[in-house]
Amino acid sequence: MSKSTSKNIELKIFELRAELHDHNHRYYNLASPIVSDKEFDVMLKELEKLEVEHPEFEDQLSPTNRPGGNPVDGFEKVEHSTPMLSLSNTYDQDEVELWMARVVKGLEGEDVVYVMELKYDGVAISLQYEGGRLVKALTRGDGGTGEDITANVMTIRTIPLLLQDGAPEKLEIRGEIFYPYEEFKELNELREESGEMQFANPRNTAAGSLKLKDSRVVAKRKLDCMMYYVLAKGVAPTHSEAVSKAGHWGFKVPCASDQMIATSKDSKGVMEFIEFWDKTRSELPFAIDGVVIKVDRYDQQERLGLTSKSPRWAISYKFETERARTKLKEITFQVGRTGAVTPVANLEAVQLGGTLVKRASLHNADQISRLGLVPGDFVYVEKGGEIIPKIVGVDESVRGVGVDLFSATPESFPENCLECGSQLVRKEGEAAHYCPNVEFCSPQVSGRIVHFIGRKSMNINGLGEETVVQLVEAGLLVDPGSLYDLKAEDLLPLERMAEVSVKKLLKGIEASNQIPFERVLFGLGIRYVGETVAKKLARSLSSMEKIMTASKDTLVAIDEIGERIAESIIHYFAQPNNIKLVDRLKSAGLQFQIEEIEGSTDRLAGSAIVVSGVFENYDRSEIKTLIEKHGGKVSSSISKKTAFVVAGDKMGPSKREKAEKLGVDMLTEDEFVAKISN
Ligand code: IVH
Repeated sequence: MSKSTSKNIELKIFELRAELHDHNHRYYNLASPIVSDKEFDVMLKELEKLEVEHPEFEDQLSPTNRPGGNPVDGFEKVEHSTPMLSLSNTYDQDEVELWMARVVKGLEGEDVVYVMELKYDGVAISLQYEGGRLVKALTRGDGGTGEDITANVMTIRTIPLLLQDGAPEKLEIRGEIFYPYEEFKELNELREESGEMQFANPRNTAAGSLKLKDSRVVAKRKLDCMMYYVLAKGVAPTHSEAVSKAGHWGFKVPCASDQMIATSKDSKGVMEFIEFWDKTRSELPFAIDGVVIKVDRYDQQERLGLTSKSPRWAISYKFETERARTKLKEITFQVGRTGAVTPVANLEAVQLGGTLVKRASLHNADQISRLGLVPGDFVYVEKGGEIIPKIVGVDESVRGVGVDLFSATPESFPENCLECGSQLVRKEGEAAHYCPNVEFCSPQVSGRIVHFIGRKSMNINGLGEETVVQLVEAGLLVDPGSLYDLKAEDLLPLERMAEVSVKKLLKGIEASNQIPFERVLFGLGIRYVGETVAKKLARSLSSMEKIMTASKDTLVAIDEIGERIAESIIHYFAQPNNIKLVDRLKSAGLQFQIEEIEGSTDRLAGSAIVVSGVFENYDRSEIKTLIEKHGGKVSSSISKKTAFVVAGDKMGPSKREKAEKLGVDMLTEDEFVAKISN
């Protein structure tokens, strides 16, 4: 390659990286993207390709590295430049006033401005930047020495890898990494789908995620990060100004307009902030456990100094964990589709943190026996960081009130499944009990069918959970395959089954033969085969037949399929029942291989095509889909390699100029359609 082409490629790679970093910042931190997700993906793919072709221009901080790199053995211990201190804290507003008085005294009566922030309930992180590039991310550790978790932190989208212009040459900044509620819920849903244990709370899950050895797994955990401490001399005279600047450099920071940061000269404003957030915190998309109050001016902070553990210039006011007292009505044991048995406390409804709580999880057998719970007990429920409230204690002073003391014995975990009577088993190393009667235990049967008909699997209209249970009880359904044996005359005599609903149900079942193969595969409910894994399997092995007969080696050779998943798949297809089920689904006409996109050709195979302007009959994304359907590749910028440009109205003048200069053909919409049709 000539020197000048190499320089051009390097330049192109640099441009793409800078542009993508900027789009990331706009999307994740400013929430105002200027390109579509698809356009972003196209640029990212283009960069990826160039980077593969030109490893000499490798950069650890490239936006393509966000999905994570190779696993590491352990984390290196690194000393902090300045110790990561903790904050002195209180639950008492009077003590906040006393602290403010101490501050004023320490500053010999000077005027003081206080700045109030949220106390994010996550994991502290210290980030180091040099020349605007992220060079290190350290955990708090023991405060003096932390662990280098840079590779994992790089996957967090709200943490900039490259800073925007104006950032100091050298910067250390600290903040809190946390798991937003929505994303945490999504993660648990995915885990439930694939039969994995649920995580109990976002904070511990954030901490656990950051300690994973494989950053590619961390990349899938949608962690977030808010910054609260800038360590760079001279960027601003006050903390609040430094934080706002950090926002301009690319960090996610609280802003005054959403009231997540405010300043006040007196205790009135401070107390108002505390009270506002104590009331409003349940509306935030992430967990906080209090408010932090700091002296705003850096020179004053310095004069106040530190104690051995915490700065004198800050204090945290912690909220009481929301807790309610209510009566335990009964403990039931729920059997899930995978056979896992979970105890559930049914409570007299009580208001807690903005929601009405009727049930609480009782994680496992040990907890019930530890608390010695008896129906009729008054119990304390807390929400804390958890999504599902939990029972944290019993009101000992009124034990036994309302309980028939002769019949009530402390509930312990049942030895037999309450649904089918089978003896429960406790798998080695797992806290959960399982009902081994996979084939006939009715909640397991209906659980599997409910999973199969779900929105993300076969999406069968006209059939809900209640109806499934009804049909299982009536003996009409025994597995997902039996759905395809249902007949109108069997259904009509049943309760709540009118002609219209029967018709709708049967039509919904019939329509499921259009559902793509990967969703059929996911619908089988193979343990650890969630939506994403099902997609991967389908794309790599392309048919049910091949997946059923794949060896462990073949399976683990697929990207992201590990031994645990491979073993689970092999185990599943070793069960005669499952083979029977698959056969039944096949004869019902379900998709058993990935479908070729109808009408696809290879007419544009190997061509890089640029789309620009607006079109009459298609929108831009449709043109791009057409290109891909016919084997072409959409690229975002014109180069000598561009096969042609599909040029619409209002095509960008610079693009036109470049195409003309390089002699790249420009096709009209009609010309393009003619090209792919014939
Ligand atoms: S300032 C020198 N501000 O609370 C102290 N900390 O108990 C610098 N935290 O380890 C910390 N939100 O992980 C500060 N707005 C906030 C915070 C915050 C949460 C955490 C942080 C720290 C712990 C102190």
